[in-house]
Amino acid sequence: MPLMDAKIFEKRRATLMSHMNGGVAILPTASMRVRNRDVHYPFRADSDFYYLTHFPEPEAVAVLVPGREHGEYILFCRERNPEKEIWEGRRAGLEGARETYGADDAFPIDDIDDILPGLLENRDKVFYSMGRYTDFDQRLINWVNEVRNKARNGVHAPGEFVDPNHILHEMRLFKTAEEIRLMKRAAKISAQAHRRAMQTCRPGMMEYEIEAELLYEFKKGGSAFPAYPPIVGGGANSCILHYTENNTELKSGDLLLIDAAAEIDSYAADITRTFPVNGRFSGEQRAIYELVLAAQIAAIDQVKPGKHWNDPHETAVRVLTQGLKDLGLLTGDIDGHIENGDYKRFYMHRTGHWLGMDVHDVGDYKLDDTWRLLESGMTLTVEPGLYFAESKDIPPAFWNIGVRIEDDVLVTRDGPEVLSRDAPKSVDEIEALMRH
Ligand code: GLY
Ligand code: MN
Ligand code: MN
Repeated sequence: MPLMDAKIFEKRRATLMSHMNGGVAILPTASMRVRNRDVHYPFRADSDFYYLTHFPEPEAVAVLVPGREHGEYILFCRERNPEKEIWEGRRAGLEGARETYGADDAFPIDDIDDILPGLLENRDKVFYSMGRYTDFDQRLINWVNEVRNKARNGVHAPGEFVDPNHILHEMRLFKTAEEIRLMKRAAKISAQAHRRAMQTCRPGMMEYEIEAELLYEFKKGGSAFPAYPPIVGGGANSCILHYTENNTELKSGDLLLIDAAAEIDSYAADITRTFPVNGRFSGEQRAIYELVLAAQIAAIDQVKPGKHWNDPHETAVRVLTQGLKDLGLLTGDIDGHIENGDYKRFYMHRTGHWLGMDVHDVGDYKLDDTWRLLESGMTLTVEPGLYFAESKDIPPAFWNIGVRIEDDVLVTRDGPEVLSRDAPKSVDEIEALMRH
């Protein structure tokens, strides 16, 4: 049972086609990748392709040909093959492509070399994103050359290649009600996983045991994949931003930073929580945690229509820098620190990114060289942090404290809506949950 109505995808294709001025759009899905010998990485469709087709299988190419008499949406895909399907799983086939996925016309992927050049004849433009699938780039060039070779027959070949990303990614940036529903579901499952991690964590466990608890909730909630590899870092590992080994013992007195979330029908959540392995924050851990939380709450408050993309970041940086000064970890003038970027020693990443089908989602952050304004329907993360690796010029009580707090926020007319609010984040909530 599809999670979204086929009509939604038809409408998206129509919107893209309305910007194409008679051109042809060609969108391949991702390729299967070998992990080792006969084993492949789990297949995940290309986000742009999936946004327009909802077609989940590998070896597929969507072609949009506005005004084509026999149908504007053509899907090349694998044919049904009962023998192969016994080994590899079910396929929609050409009939499924038409009936379930709304293709006007469907052809076997094995015939694409014979059919595709014909679709390019007498079209001025090809909308295609060069450089993402380089083998496919070469095939497209070969098809165009084939059409060029027919010039003597009075056929003209496309002279212009246009990247569809600008149009498509602007569409993807604004989430519709159906997309928000999926993102809320991904966030809910992920928040439940963070609660479970807090409830099960005990000193002496391994980081991967906590990872297992997270993955259990993701799968149980119906998520096919995590949205990105889970980061489960205790103690010194909490200060490594993209730590994913997750193979160290968790010690009483250390913090545990977990950045993990599920994907639902290709829509991501992205949640980070940080908590004490033994269930009680030390004085220094608590001071840093409360500071990051204050920065995060202030930054979330900036997520409203009319604020610009960088407002939440600027707000977080100011709160963090003031707090670092109050704790004696930075000395001197706040404005000077902000201007010089002195806080970057402890806060080296930005406060967020767009969120959607890709965890670091598509969409421009600037328009004409200025930060764009936030508008209803955009979704982004708000994820300030502070990280204190061992260093002689910092009091040892702060060593190995890494704190990040990350939520997923939808911009609405009424202000920020925190999709990941079910994951506890106040000190009291966390300590209460961990006591049980
Ligand atoms: N999990 C990746 C990020 O927070 O951006
Ligand atoms: Mn994250
Ligand atoms: Mn993030």
